[in-house]
Amino acid sequence: MGLLCSYKILAERPEEAEELESSEDIIMATNATATEVKKRISLPLSSHRPVPYNGPSREEVLGLRRQYLTPGLITYYREPLLVVEGHMQYVWDETGKQYLDGFAGIVSVSVGHCHPKVVEKVREQVGKLQHTTTIYMHPTIGLFGKKLAEHMPPDSGLSVTYFTNSGSEANEVAILSAREYTGNSEVLSLRNGYHGGTQATMALTAHGTWKFKSNPAIGIKHATPGYCYRCPYGLEYPSCEVKCARDVEDLIRYETPGEVACFIASGSTAEFASPTKCRPVLAGPARSSGASRTGASRRIW
Ligand SMILES: Cc1ncc(COP(=O)(O)O)c(C=O)c1O
Repeated sequence: MGLLCSYKILAERPEEAEELESSEDIIMATNATATEVKKRISLPLSSHRPVPYNGPSREEVLGLRRQYLTPGLITYYREPLLVVEGHMQYVWDETGKQYLDGFAGIVSVSVGHCHPKVVEKVREQVGKLQHTTTIYMHPTIGLFGKKLAEHMPPDSGLSVTYFTNSGSEANEVAILSAREYTGNSEVLSLRNGYHGGTQATMALTAHGTWKFKSNPAIGIKHATPGYCYRCPYGLEYPSCEVKCARDVEDLIRYETPGEVACFIASGSTAEFASPTKCRPVLAGPARSSGASRTGASRRIW
């Protein structure tokens, strides 16, 4: 059995990622070096039996992607993985090999793959009404908004939801709202963060792998991330005196009119990498990716 884990961890160190020949080599990457992750551990089994796969072979799927899909879609590993079935925390490849999924579609399947309750509700709904639009009324969107509001911290003022189809879209809306509300245009983001593939979110993204030369970042400034695991300054907490947070301050002071629309931090910077100690200095709670992420959640403060 293998284990899938976050591509972001690997993407930060391409030279390490290359050492990993396949997903099988990855066991625990969160706090480990590439050499350490090559260790294997046995994982709990599942009683779920995948149905025999009779679709196109892995090579054929690769060929189809190359011929008919944008080259912008990348795969991970020298031997890309074909995933054909999922059940709760496990997925299976076309050969019936089982993987413990520590990745969950970039935290999009937070309750597990094909959770029976989710499957039942989806089946019920698509059998009744597949699609309508917000121009017409439907009870579910309002009820869902109410449920979300009830889960927000009391007195947080977080009671209104804008539903979007993707994380990129959520970020676009959040930035637009912040700019409208404050009347300021500058947005602060952190280096090494990923925020999406649309024009503005690609500009917010501060990782060369995910940027195009033709899409300049306008009205966006990137600060050094609070990333203790691989400190950009080579320092250690607490003797570093949170130099990274000072960079945010300097950025506001020297590269903006002194006021900004908002500050955005992604999972690959704030939540995954920055130490809890840095968060108050960076002015607020980190975004919670797992909690409300049915697609992807973004919090801006
Ligand atoms: C932190 C973060 N922000 C934004 C996005 C973009 O979300 P989407 O691919 O749904 O547009 C992602 C997607 O992986 C993400 O991980």
